[in-house]
Amino acid sequence: MKELTLNNGVKIPIIGFGTYKATNAAEGYRIVSEAIEVGYRHLDTAMIYKNEEEVGRAVRESGIPREEFFITSKLDRDHLGCENTKREFEATLKRLQTDYLDLYLIHWPRPNFGNPSYGDWERLDRESWKAMEELYREGRIRAIGLSNFLSHHLERLLEYAEIVPQVNQLELHPGYLQKEAVEASLKHDIAIEAWSPIGRARLAENPILTEVAGKYGVSVARLCLAFDLQMGYIIIPKSTHRDRMEENLHADKLTIREEDLEIIRSMPEAGWSGEHPDRDRVDPQVG
Ligand SMILES: NC(=O)c1ccc[n+]([C@@H]2O[C@H](COP(=O)([O-])OP(=O)(O)OC[C@H]3O[C@@H](n4cnc5c(N)ncnc54)[C@H](OP(=O)(O)O)[C@@H]3O)[C@@H](O)[C@H]2O)c1
Repeated sequence: MKELTLNNGVKIPIIGFGTYKATNAAEGYRIVSEAIEVGYRHLDTAMIYKNEEEVGRAVRESGIPREEFFITSKLDRDHLGCENTKREFEATLKRLQTDYLDLYLIHWPRPNFGNPSYGDWERLDRESWKAMEELYREGRIRAIGLSNFLSHHLERLLEYAEIVPQVNQLELHPGYLQKEAVEASLKHDIAIEAWSPIGRARLAENPILTEVAGKYGVSVARLCLAFDLQMGYIIIPKSTHRDRMEENLHADKLTIREEDLEIIRSMPEAGWSGEHPDRDRVDPQVG
């Protein structure tokens, strides 16, 4: 599996397995185990997905050494702050039954809309980041980063950060390119991870993508993944189906020609999840 070297020298497989809604108590272990069998070694989970136990169990019972995995988890947005971060980190390790994380991210830069601390996000981010820097220095986390940080959240954090984040995980797929957040991150050598790289099912019928995918004889899903990889992003697609897990793991086998990349880069906005760090969630955009 191809890897990308983060700004602290740690290597991360460019294709990971997303586990949001991939798991529940009954199915989770089987799905993650299957992903491991298929060849995934980079697993993306989060406290809020409520599947860290299943991910940890699948890793342990695979018989493959822990060091061969790259495990990411995320600090929930309603648990920001110094003490919360330290407590939630320990709880995550306990659920995963591991003694370190490869990557720990602040899931969203501010609490949920409606949380009384919503307006206090700058102080909360600072406290969480300082706690994560401490855990990083203690060797409990190999890389620390952010998720859903737009340029204004990131610039604020960089004013006090002693460690520049290694990663910013953003919603990124054809039709939703978040150019400003991507550029603000890359300017500081922060690697980009794409969440919802397929756009869940929202892009499957998009006429522009269907036409371009047709030229290569591939699915829209495969086209989306290859596009994100060619943009230089790490991808973490999720699937509960073995054949799709395999297809997605080989997304780097497709090379999209420059003229088609340009068609995709310049297409109208499409497939947005409806999630935004500074707003309440809105209905997703299909098309
Ligand atoms: N940081 C954040 O705020 C954040 C937010 C959301 C997600 N994430 C992470 O990003 C990961 C991926 O995002 P996501 O799960 O929202 O969406 P996604 O990976 O873009 O799309 C998943 C959907 O696409 C389907 N699919 C997967 N492979 C396919 C293929 N080859 N052909 C056709 N359909 C396919 C899956 O269906 P089946 O399962 O039925 O195959 C599922 O419905 C998550 O699992 C999570 O780890 C992070």
